[in-house]
Order: sequence, then structure tokens, then C-alpha cells
Amino acid sequence: MNSKKIKKPDPNIWKQITTAWGKACSPSRPSLGDIKIYGKFILQSIGKKKNCRILILGATPELRSLILKYGLSKKIDIFLLDLNLEMIRAMDEFVEIPNSKEKRVIGDWLSMPFKNEYFDLVLGDEVLINVSLTNRNKFLMEINRVLKTSGAFITRASHENPLAKKFTLKKALDKYSNYYLQNKLKFNQAVNYVLEEIFQNSYFKNPKGLLSLKFLEKDCYKALKSPNPLKRLIIKTILDDYSSLFKQSWSWESRPQQLKKFKEYFQVKESKTAHDYLYSYILPIYYLIKK
Ligand SMILES: C[S@@+](CC[C@H](N)C(=O)[O-])C[C@H]1O[C@@H](n2cnc3c(N)ncnc32)[C@H](O)[C@@H]1O
Repeated sequence: MNSKKIKKPDPNIWKQITTAWGKACSPSRPSLGDIKIYGKFILQSIGKKKNCRILILGATPELRSLILKYGLSKKIDIFLLDLNLEMIRAMDEFVEIPNSKEKRVIGDWLSMPFKNEYFDLVLGDEVLINVSLTNRNKFLMEINRVLKTSGAFITRASHENPLAKKFTLKKALDKYSNYYLQNKLKFNQAVNYVLEEIFQNSYFKNPKGLLSLKFLEKDCYKALKSPNPLKRLIIKTILDDYSSLFKQSWSWESRPQQLKKFKEYFQVKESKTAHDYLYSYILPIYYLIKK
């Protein structure tokens, strides 16, 4: 979603989002490998502190579950910040142990309702993609503002994939339906990876750095007429289960452009990619320290 024109989605889509999230896999959701990296960076950043305040941008269940583990050994105040309370509620279902102490704050990441230097750590999984290119400096500046001196921002952030220029829906359907038939992937994984390739390729279908399934909607409807029933089922599942995503758009840049922006507000202490899912190479996790 581009934050310049933030619209609250139709409440009826929450059920769809919950169902879709339940079937989603990495890269949409952080993998076990990603969570290990997050865990390592979190430990480096707050490991020695007895008390700390953490802000999670969005409602990523895997991050909320991870933080709970640290909460057992120290006093942690956890805040979630999202425009939609419904999204936080929809994600509750996927948190391993519900944490009644999480403070749910409804607000905009571009103008956070927190005092300066309030947090020791800010976490956000694939949040940058939700912020338009024109608002990215403002967003990073806000994170910098709410962080204490030497506070950390740890985030998995995807960047453009030059290889995706060559992706086509036809090739993706061929590849992932074969992987499914060869038992290399489950059905929902095949659906997710076809969706991922459409998504990555959509970036090259417009000059504005936007990603949107809508740029390939016509191709999807055309593929519904495929003579192959498995390919038809994959496309039908995408159109049925992810229809709300066709109305949205996200933003991408190249990795050097992204790093340049991070470096304006943060020192890049480390970045690491997981190796347990396809395309993890375009989703590094950054350990950033407030400048
Ligand atoms: C597709 S989700 C995923 C984001 C993140 N990966 C997560 O798991 O929460 C996008 C979420 O970001 C929230 N969001 C997008 N832009 C926002 C903004 N400017 N301020 C606050 N929340 C925002 C949306 O309301 C939505 O809940």
C-alpha cells in the first residue's frame, strides 16, 4: 500500500487476509531462517539490557512470537503500530502465545504518536515496501526520531530483482506446476511462488517503481482458459484467495538505492539473508543503528 493515499481497506477483507496469511509461505512470511537472523540481531541489540521498549511496525505474528521469548528473561514493553486494528486482530490468530501486554497503537508510521528517543528497538518485517518512494525519507526519519541513541532498527526489506524482468506467467505456471507434480512443493507453495513471480515481474510493467498484481490481471484471466487443469486451479486460487491484493500497490528500489537511503539515517551494522526459501536473496535482514 502506498502511504500517500492510505485507505482503510473494506472490513470484509479481514477474513480473506486471515485465510490468505494462513496459506502464505516465505517470502510473504518470514521463514525459520529469517527468524534465526532476527533473533541473532535482536540479541546483539538488547541482549544486555534488563528493561527495554520495543516497537513492532505492523503486526507480524512471527516477530511477536519471537519477542515473547525475550520477554521471559527481561522486562520488555512491546508496542504494535498499525493503521488498522483489524489487521492486528487478524494476525493474533498466528501468534504462538497471545500476549495481553502488547500495547496496540493505531497510527501512521509516517507520523508516529511517540516521544523522541522512546524505543530501544524498532522491528518491521517488509514494511519499507508499504511506503511510497516519496515518503521513504520521512519514514526512516521517524524511526530515527523515536529511537534512543544507539537504538536499532532491524528489518527485512526486499529490493528489486533484475532477474524478474524475464519472468512470465506462462513460465511460472510451467515451473511451479511441475514442482508440485514432482512433490518438490506443496500446492499452496506452488500458488505462492506463481504469485511471487507475477508480483516481482509487475515492477517492470510500469515506470514508477510500483509493484502490483493489477498490472498482470489480464494475463491471469487469460491463463484461466489454460487446457491444463492444474494450471487453471493455481490461477483460480490466486484470483479467489488474493483478490484484495489486486487492488493494492507497493514500491521497490534497487539494493544500492535502498542502502543509500538507510545510510542517511542509520549505520548499517550488518545484513544477512536466509537460505531456506526461493528468492530469499532479494530479502536481506538489516541490522541498523541510529546515527
Ligand atoms: C501487508 S501488511 C504486512 C506488513 C508487515 N509485514 C506485517 O506483517 O505486519 C501491511 C500492514 O502495514 C500497515 N501499514 C501500511 N502502511 C502503514 C502506515 N503508513 N502506517 C501504519 N501502518 C501501515 C497496513 O495497515 C497493514 O496492516
